[in-house]
Amino acid sequence: MNNSSFETELRSRIRDTEAIVVRYLPEETGYNRTVLRAMNYAVRAGGKRLRPLLMRETYHLFCPEEGEALYRFMAAIEMIHTYSLIHDDLPALDNDDYRRGRKTTHLVFGEDMAILAGDGLLNYAFEVAAGAFRLAEPGLARVGRAMETLAAKPGIYGMIGGQTADVELTGKEMTLEQLQYIHEHKTGALIECAMMVGAILGGASEEQIRTAEAAASKIGMAFQIQDDILDVTATEETLGKPVRSDEKNQKVTYVTFMGMERAARDVRELSSEAVSLLESLGGENGFLIALTDHLTRRDR
Ligand code: FPP
Ligand code: MG
Repeated sequence: MNNSSFETELRSRIRDTEAIVVRYLPEETGYNRTVLRAMNYAVRAGGKRLRPLLMRETYHLFCPEEGEALYRFMAAIEMIHTYSLIHDDLPALDNDDYRRGRKTTHLVFGEDMAILAGDGLLNYAFEVAAGAFRLAEPGLARVGRAMETLAAKPGIYGMIGGQTADVELTGKEMTLEQLQYIHEHKTGALIECAMMVGAILGGASEEQIRTAEAAASKIGMAFQIQDDILDVTATEETLGKPVRSDEKNQKVTYVTFMGMERAARDVRELSSEAVSLLESLGGENGFLIALTDHLTRRDR
């Protein structure tokens, strides 16, 4: 796939993903509508939709036909991701004013509603995903395993664990091992979740699920290092959120640890290791491999 046809294809697949995700958002009616509006505001603000996209592409390595179960899990993971962004931006955490090119949820709806909107998205994600138990396909066992993964990876031993270490160690001396723990859990876990759920629902074997997890772990690490790089090199305009946020928050990042050159090299290396793992899975992997490669060159 050449570069410009990949870009066109990527835009079209992001649009499809977007349409699937918004289909499951709640209607903004009732006495609770403020929280519903805040939830929808944050999700509809856009974003790269990377996690549901990765889920869908990984699913396609194992199964050509899509179904509603996949769509429900795609929406669910973007809701979980969005909740984590709303809470990450709160004054008690990173205290950021912009996200996805718009004012952060707490600035528009107030801190109280932003906390509730995050809670709402997390809970609603499971409500939407659990709807897949009622479907004939792909069956209880796969949906059950996917639900378990959807609960575990963003949880206390995954994303929340990483965020905890991040909050506690910000502004303090940190070892490389601690920084890697933060990156692997805070960012990597959700990407692992996306690709594992795609593999599980698509009918992958245990070994293939593990390979998808290993590839996702490399992609997640490369993605977060690139995030650290962009915090230094990008502009607020392209990124849609403040730059130099790490410096402002006295965060030790992969770039401060390793230097810019080494960080950029590691992104490329991790990505090529991920590509080898994806190649070993076979199937319709052309787009997923191009996407993995593209992520190392992303500027937002
Ligand atoms: C940007 O994703 C987000 C990250 C790189 C992950 C950072 C991790 C957290 C915010 C975890 C917070 C956890 C809790 C429990 C509060 P992206 O560039 O894909 O964003 P986009 O969807 O807006 O494009
Ligand atoms: Mg932040």
